[in-house]
Amino acid sequence: MAVQSSDSVALDVLQANVELLAEKERLEQERLRLIELDRLKMEFLGRVSHDLRTPLNSIIGFSDLIMAGVGGKMNRKHAEFISAINRNGHALLGLINDLLDLSTIDARKMTLKRASVPLQMILDDLRAATEPVLASANLSVTWPSPVALIGKSAFVDRRRLSQVLVNLVDNARKFTPPGGEVSIVMDADGENATFTVRDTGPGIPLEERERIFHPYYQRSATLGSRADGVGLGLVIVKAIVELHQGRIVLDGDAGKGCMFQVVLPQKEGELAGVGAAVQGSAP
Ligand SMILES: Nc1ncnc2c1ncn2[C@@H]1O[C@H](COP(=O)(O)OP(=O)(O)OP(=O)(O)O)[C@@H](O)[C@H]1O
Ligand SMILES: [Mg+2]
Repeated sequence: MAVQSSDSVALDVLQANVELLAEKERLEQERLRLIELDRLKMEFLGRVSHDLRTPLNSIIGFSDLIMAGVGGKMNRKHAEFISAINRNGHALLGLINDLLDLSTIDARKMTLKRASVPLQMILDDLRAATEPVLASANLSVTWPSPVALIGKSAFVDRRRLSQVLVNLVDNARKFTPPGGEVSIVMDADGENATFTVRDTGPGIPLEERERIFHPYYQRSATLGSRADGVGLGLVIVKAIVELHQGRIVLDGDAGKGCMFQVVLPQKEGELAGVGAAVQGSAP
């Protein structure tokens, strides 16, 4: 058997090292290219969403006026059509706003304006935003008792917290079959403010509890009820909760409904990992 000289072994090792370095460099370039592509994609999403909102606001605004009778009387068919335009305009605006939020979160540009907000005010915001839709859902809804909220407040961004709670209540409404129950609980002490939304819908099996917080993930079991969503609500909810340095806990027995609990600290703390919520997409 031929024995390699030590010089030629050293040459082989050198050659292998050079190839490894070249491969490492190529992978690094590829990584940077993908990061840049992802940034461009999100930037594009942000710009397009922004530009789509302007004409849409005019569609919604003018259909509001027509529905209010400003343009004169309409026949029944016209009223039906214009109300469909208005309803779908609002649905589209919700989607565009979610996409805009997603791109803001991804660019780590979402910021909060935190202040001490009475729980009663948070409840009023939530009822105003969800009651009209809940009313037609044939569900029994339990709200926190206003008396129990007296003197309690949460250190939060009022608009963003409202967005969190509206998303959770809207999910409970959407996925709970008629005749079911939805309950909302709020509380606050010196340490934390806690918001809980329970429902008696299908629940979420353990193995899917992490995935439902990924962008565009929707459970196949809820396909029938998902007509008005794309799977962005919980991504935004989780990001807002994390911006508050809080946590969201999901519990409940599969088949017997679920419970989403949001716990937010009453003061600003460490900003560890904040804004990094948009990770991975649904398959
Ligand atoms: N209360 C719930 N009960 C049962 N399944 C739920 C509930 N909340 C969320 N899910 C499941 O998690 C998925 C993701 O929820 P998410 O709110 O992110 O999206 P979506 O409601 O489908 O759409 P969007 O929020 O964008 O309108 C839902 O499609 C559903 O499968
Ligand atoms: Mg949702």
